[in-house]
Amino acid sequence: MPASSETTAAPPYDRDVAVPLGGVRSSYPGPSAHISRDSSLAWWRRVLPVIGSHRAIFFIGIGLSFVSLVLQTLVPNMLNGAINHDLLHATGGLTRDVVRITIVGVLAGVTGIVSRHYVYRVAYNVEADLRSLIYEHLSWLSFSFYDRVQSGQLISRANSDIRSVQMYSTFAPLIVVQALIGVVAFGFMLSISAPLALIALVVMPILYVVGLRMRRVMFPISWITQARLADVATIVDENVNGVRVVKSFAQEEAEINRLADAAERVAWAYIKDAHLRAVWSPWVQNLPQLGLTLVLFFGGQMVIGGHLGIGAILAFNAYLMMLQAPFMMLGQLVMMGQRAKASAERIFEILDENPDVHERPGAFDLEIRGGAIDFEGVDFTYANGSVVLEGFSARVDAGETVAIVGRTGSGKSSVARLLTRFYDVGAGEIRIDGTNIADVTLHSLREAVGVVLDEPFLFSISIFENIAYGRPDASRDDVIAAARAAYAHEFIEELPEGYDTVVGERGYTLSGGQRQRIAIARTLLVNPPILVLDDATSAIDVHIEAEIFAALRALLAQRTTIVIAHRISTIALASRVLVLEGGRVVASGTHEQLLATSPLYSEILARSEEA
Ligand SMILES: Nc1ncnc2c1ncn2[C@@H]1O[C@H](COP(=O)(O)OP(=O)(O)O)[C@@H](O)[C@H]1O
Ligand SMILES: [Mg+2]
Repeated sequence: MPASSETTAAPPYDRDVAVPLGGVRSSYPGPSAHISRDSSLAWWRRVLPVIGSHRAIFFIGIGLSFVSLVLQTLVPNMLNGAINHDLLHATGGLTRDVVRITIVGVLAGVTGIVSRHYVYRVAYNVEADLRSLIYEHLSWLSFSFYDRVQSGQLISRANSDIRSVQMYSTFAPLIVVQALIGVVAFGFMLSISAPLALIALVVMPILYVVGLRMRRVMFPISWITQARLADVATIVDENVNGVRVVKSFAQEEAEINRLADAAERVAWAYIKDAHLRAVWSPWVQNLPQLGLTLVLFFGGQMVIGGHLGIGAILAFNAYLMMLQAPFMMLGQLVMMGQRAKASAERIFEILDENPDVHERPGAFDLEIRGGAIDFEGVDFTYANGSVVLEGFSARVDAGETVAIVGRTGSGKSSVARLLTRFYDVGAGEIRIDGTNIADVTLHSLREAVGVVLDEPFLFSISIFENIAYGRPDASRDDVIAAARAAYAHEFIEELPEGYDTVVGERGYTLSGGQRQRIAIARTLLVNPPILVLDDATSAIDVHIEAEIFAALRALLAQRTTIVIAHRISTIALASRVLVLEGGRVVASGTHEQLLATSPLYSEILARSEEA
């Protein structure tokens, strides 16, 4: 068994809160910063710590970009001097001017390139951090969260939303730098001619008002677009995962239509977005041109009147172009900002979700001495309101094998999920060797209790790796021994690549019974002192099942086991049977005793034998 003394990793973004789940241990250190937990803060302030963790590179990038832009603003001013002084008066200094301007231009270019390199580095580091934060958090959340959400929504959030937050949070500062440069450029304009500078700037307030208006109009549509993209992702996800169901009911066309509908809704949102953009962008783009004509008109008069050098007109043209960029980008910034805000809020929806199942502060590792289990007065209701257990009490002695029998939906699987704390009990308590499982670390609990589920999920990796999933350092001999015990070794050997055969997504290339046997081997390899088999052999042939149980008998003798089963052959493994009905144990005893005394038991058995 893996060492349980290893410290569990801290939760993804609230290190100061009690560790909610110890099941995940990893050598990956994770992002060095976390999103602020204070949900009353503005969205960008919550993201700030993540960007802040890259501040060294960030400030180098932004600083260099500032230097580059300052160098760029020097050029028109130098041009002004060159024309008014050296060109018009033929001083012969023109070559020197050209060399100077070239040097400044080259320096501006080089610093520009280097600054971009750093800014992109920050951008992609921030993206990687956000991605890790979300995935880490997802792995910390409880089963109840996954009962509620659609995986398509999650995938979409993790991708497009991260991207839009990343873009905004790294490029917004760059645009702000550009705007600062606008101020410097305006300073130069003032120094050349204050009246002309003011005239040139007349259009800018209008530009600002237009930008503001645009922001109000664009915001709702960008939100709708994101939501509809997530809907498409959900449908695609369901169709890929559920393709066998779709095909077996010949519903391809209906599904294609469903997707087409969703795609059309996305298209509508995008077209609406493009339309609004088309209506508003020309204003934002062309207002500065109006400034140019004003400069030509009034500046021209001043030049004709002899109050201004001709070089000034050229310099003003260049400066207005420079001013235009930040103002145009400010509009873009506004749009990116809306998108980023919508995306960030959707990301926070996940990150603000807390696991229902918590480790108590001061939780200790569960110590197994035999593995006796007590359920005492357990009540349990799912979040959707379905009441499953009411006053459920049962005892399983150390080393005993007990079967739980009950109708479908009577709560048998829920009992298994409560024992591993996939969910927490509503009332009452569950004790292992006298210790309330609510007091122990989740990691030690889940290591002690091995559950084999009826719907075994296999990863798209080799059979060997699937079996070794809970003990990646297991030797080949150990893996083979576990496979033998689960009666899987023979069929695995017959596969084209034996243990190295990669099973498809969810192991679909294998039969249900074969997958169940691999799942049993996977749990046996971890060698848990308490074993729960939840309909774990339901898809396995009766005679193969008998072989498995013959092999399991020896293994089960060493541990406490709960088998959830319908078949008499499986139930026969148990020394005692509990009959579950109406949320509690209504009868218990040996198979023979129950046959004689419990009509319900006979009825359940008869039904399942029929099936
Ligand atoms: N994740 C869930 N969320 C809400 N209700 C659930 C969930 N899982 C099971 N249920 C409901 O709880 C009841 C017991 O389910 P379960 O324990 O799986 O029964 P069994 O294993 O005996 O067939 C059923 O009515 C089922 O519909
Ligand atoms: Mg079940």
